[in-house]
Amino acid sequence: MPASELVEKILRLKEKKGAVILAHNYQPPEIQDIADHLGDSLDLSRLAARLEEKIIIFCGVHFMAETAAILSPDKKVILPDPKAGCPMADMIDAEQLHLLQEKHPGAVTVMYVNSTAEVKALTDICCTSANALDVVDSIPEEKKIIFGPDQYLGGWISLQTDRSMILWNGFCPSHQKIMPEEIRALRGKYPEAIVMVHPEVNPAIEAEADIALGTGSMIKFAGESDATTFIVGTEVGMCYRLEKLYPEKAFIPASPNAVCPNMKKISLEKILASLENLGPVIAVEKEIADAARTAIERMIEIG
Ligand code: 13P
Ligand code: SF4
Repeated sequence: MPASELVEKILRLKEKKGAVILAHNYQPPEIQDIADHLGDSLDLSRLAARLEEKIIIFCGVHFMAETAAILSPDKKVILPDPKAGCPMADMIDAEQLHLLQEKHPGAVTVMYVNSTAEVKALTDICCTSANALDVVDSIPEEKKIIFGPDQYLGGWISLQTDRSMILWNGFCPSHQKIMPEEIRALRGKYPEAIVMVHPEVNPAIEAEADIALGTGSMIKFAGESDATTFIVGTEVGMCYRLEKLYPEKAFIPASPNAVCPNMKKISLEKILASLENLGPVIAVEKEIADAARTAIERMIEIG
């Protein structure tokens, strides 16, 4: 079916069923174009909690849909491809976190929202890249902090806040594809450009950058900056988002290899099928959802 016909069917069915389409900033262009709301992980969590529609088509990855489902147990949260996972989120499980907590009694557990519901259920407070610094700042200085699963986001927060933290050793495989040589070569080609990178990159990439920002903050920063060229050190979908918002500015991916294959599993065909079948629904067992909700609610209140 041609894309235009797919889009028409999706929009018609969405109206008929009273659904809303949320999409993360890394989604493919054709998905960004039909979304009702686009955003970073924090925006999307907040939206999922306050939107009136009872059916949410979540164009992102599993932990995002799961977070929305935990916040809104009365809504149907649909992930068009239930296999769109996040390898980083799967790098720590509940048993591993429990063992770490036993080793550090009294420590406050902060988990990146890129984690499973079972891990969130053992967490004191979640964070996203947008509010990680505020979340850590909200914890009394004398308290030890366990942070996971992203060692690089954790290391970056630790540097910014001067707090030493017990870090889990997870990472985002897509952000690790960016190489320092790629940034140096682009700086040579675009000497006037600002290099902005996501805090999920490793410190060697951060050392090459002018600034580290989550995807929502990149949007704000690029809009407010006088600069007209930006080298963007995050998942490549972000450049489409920025180009659409600021067509007069140039956005160059730091690496064409920084692709999140899971984000790209969502397609127009799968969205249409989701609306037709009202599935696959992401549901979280009540006991786990109830235990995880407080940590997520604390997250959406901060920053
Ligand atoms: P943000 O959009 O919250 O910066 O997160 C990036 C990310 O990796 C989501 O998986
Ligand atoms: Fe997970 Fe990385 Fe993909 Fe984000 S970009 S969903 S952290 S694998």
